[in-house]
Amino acid sequence: MPRPKVFVARRIPDQGLSAIAEACDVDVWPDRLPPPADALRDRVRDCDGLVSLLTDRVDAALLDAAPRLKVVSNFAVGFNNVDVPACTQRGVCVGNTPGVLTDATADIAVTLLLNAARRIAESAGDARAGRWLTWEPLGWLGQDLVGRTLGIVGMGRIGFATAKRLHHGWGMKVIYTKRSPSAEAEQQLGARRVELDELLAQSDYVSVHADLNPTTKGLFGAAQFQQMKKTAVFVNTSRGPLVDQPALAAALRSGTIFAAGLDVTDPEPLPPGHELYALPNCVIAPHVASATVDTRNAMARLCANNLLAGVRGEPLPHWVNPDAAAARRTS
Ligand code: DGY
Repeated sequence: MPRPKVFVARRIPDQGLSAIAEACDVDVWPDRLPPPADALRDRVRDCDGLVSLLTDRVDAALLDAAPRLKVVSNFAVGFNNVDVPACTQRGVCVGNTPGVLTDATADIAVTLLLNAARRIAESAGDARAGRWLTWEPLGWLGQDLVGRTLGIVGMGRIGFATAKRLHHGWGMKVIYTKRSPSAEAEQQLGARRVELDELLAQSDYVSVHADLNPTTKGLFGAAQFQQMKKTAVFVNTSRGPLVDQPALAAALRSGTIFAAGLDVTDPEPLPPGHELYALPNCVIAPHVASATVDTRNAMARLCANNLLAGVRGEPLPHWVNPDAAAARRTS
């Protein structure tokens, strides 16, 4: 039996890469930047498997150029970069990496929330730039956390882990939106499910954990920021396009809301000189929520397991589109 051929769209941790290399002929894109669309199409042309990143667009054109492709193993829990219906239609299995990055991502949501609420990036920047003149009674005043209300938009795994930290650590009251009630959040955190309008009006902190899909794109615009408290802090660790960024910038500039902490933007990277960078009440991290050694190793192992199951025709351990099984490619 010939060994399966696999393209890996960037160097991932060895714990995943070596497992793939043991069983497959592997071609790894060597650059720091993603392969351009035509290079990606070229490299997967005769491949059985693809390890993609959230920066790689997997669409119908790519799938049609790769008639042997059986599996797309996305090195991320989010998979908005993959046209899943196009994969399913062609019998191409899609895998992702849920669970293993929950804690690391919730830690970054809390980090951004604290940073924005207590103006750490701004005040540390001022200190470094020589603007720390003395201890000032009215200098760099932020917002408290204890006993405040936290609004979680999308109470999935990461939303729950974020709420758990802030409820148990700071005694925050939790309200949330989700298509169906979360028994776990209601029983363990006393959380209450509400409509988005109520969440925006009631919350001191709004943390976004919803998937990016056609119904959530642009979910946060001028009207939503207008509904929030003037003291509110807005945190997004999900995907940038959920937010209308010009509207966010305007809300931050005018004091419609107090501050924002973003781990995701639209586009990524956010170009130097973007108006959000100039706002002292906006903290921006370069999509680092899952960036810990252990988390990226775990993602790599999971990603390898999905890929290997896919090329062998087995069920993927984390299978986004099990309905692809019926049309699965065998050769
Ligand atoms: C994911 O896995 O979807 C994250 O955004 C990457 O860390």
